[in-house]
Amino acid sequence: MNMKYHIVTYGCQMNLHESEKIAGILRSVGYEEEAPPEEADIIVFNTCCIREHAENHAFGNIGALKKLKKEKPWLIIAVGGCMAQEPGKVQFLKQKFPFLDIIFGTHNIFELAALIERKRREKRVISLYEDRGETEDGARPFRTSYPNAWVNITYGCNNFCTYCIVPYVRGRERSRSAEAIVEECRALIREGYKEITLLGQNVNSYRDGEVDFPALLDRVASIEGKFRLRFMTSHPKDFSARLVAVMKKHDKILNLLHLPAQSGSSRILALMNRRYTREEYLQKIALFRREIPEGEVTTDLIVAFPTETDEEFEETLSLVREADFSSAFTFIYSPRTGTAAAKMEGRIPEAVAKARIARLIEAVNENTRRKSEGYVGREIEVLCEDYDEKRGLYLGREPLGRMGYFASENNCIGEFVRIRVTQANGVSLYGEKL
Ligand code: SAH
Ligand code: SF4
Ligand code: F3S
Repeated sequence: MNMKYHIVTYGCQMNLHESEKIAGILRSVGYEEEAPPEEADIIVFNTCCIREHAENHAFGNIGALKKLKKEKPWLIIAVGGCMAQEPGKVQFLKQKFPFLDIIFGTHNIFELAALIERKRREKRVISLYEDRGETEDGARPFRTSYPNAWVNITYGCNNFCTYCIVPYVRGRERSRSAEAIVEECRALIREGYKEITLLGQNVNSYRDGEVDFPALLDRVASIEGKFRLRFMTSHPKDFSARLVAVMKKHDKILNLLHLPAQSGSSRILALMNRRYTREEYLQKIALFRREIPEGEVTTDLIVAFPTETDEEFEETLSLVREADFSSAFTFIYSPRTGTAAAKMEGRIPEAVAKARIARLIEAVNENTRRKSEGYVGREIEVLCEDYDEKRGLYLGREPLGRMGYFASENNCIGEFVRIRVTQANGVSLYGEKL
């Protein structure tokens, strides 16, 4: 009988791509297809621990498998990803979920085949990452995001923003070789992928010898063929005029800048160790807008960082208007054990945090609505990526990231399609195929 697998992914794009690598490994050792949990012979949780909420969500889902494991004792349950890598978490996981078979860290994905093999002999297998300074090249991903393909350029992070757990669970920043990245992208375009997203916690600090991020981007954008090129995430402190110049030079690079501001208050930014002020942030945005006026900026924002006053929160609100973000991911600060901010005094009460985020979301939505409404009547080109059964419509993103829905008689997934927008609803656009 065919062996089947099921992967549950939490967290960022980095994790989505890592789940593709996990699937690639599982397929190489005989697991032939993806299936629902009840039918699977192995279930892998690829976890996230960026906020408490992400963790609780995973705990609930892991706990729910206890019964299934009793019914199917051969079922292997594995927990990997950022949460497994948190200091002290393994102890906790072992106690809370004694039925876990494999626990593996963020850099141990490549050992997964060996860990599964070991599990045949041992009751439980644990393998965590120790900082060895190497990159994780190796596994051939089983890609599931066609027509987009994720490509790692850096792993880890050196920035130590005071609220953030990532540097602790992903280790120090390591850049892949430029040669390997360009070769991977070239192969993907040859295989028919239409969009490449370069991934790193802070792509702007990429470096391989002489090749920095603008140089790398220039090389990838110079690959022949029709495709879109995007990247995330840019740290504002390293966002440079040279990068804007490369974006301007190539039509393939989308004019979409995701530049996480986190806060509009320079005092809070200093406490966050972001290494830019509100004014410097706005200068970077101004530079981008001057050179690429048709471009759009999106961001991440945190409310209720320790000691944030009402006035400082108002500065974040006013930043939303001044920077004119098209959309934003908004978060309530969540203390993470081991980070510097977790030890800070001046926690903000939950009720205040909730009121702040509600106002922030409203301000962001206002921008999103206004910008999307400006699309009605316009012609746009979307890259069709899926079919929405519920709506009975195909969907694809326009070059600035909005989702466009449209009807089509033939399957056009993976094609560039021109549509005329007839209606806008939040970040979604509806249109007619031309
Ligand atoms: N490397 C990226 C972001 C990684 S995490 C960058 O630096 O921009 C994605 C977002 O999660 C962050 O931008 C931040 O807004 C949010 N985040 C990270 N840690 C958080 C915490 N402890 N509480 C709330 N939000 C957090
Ligand atoms: Fe976290 Fe800051 Fe690194 Fe982003 S840059 S991953 S927010 S420490
Ligand atoms: Fe990503 Fe979450 Fe890890 S946001 S880097 S999966 S902690």
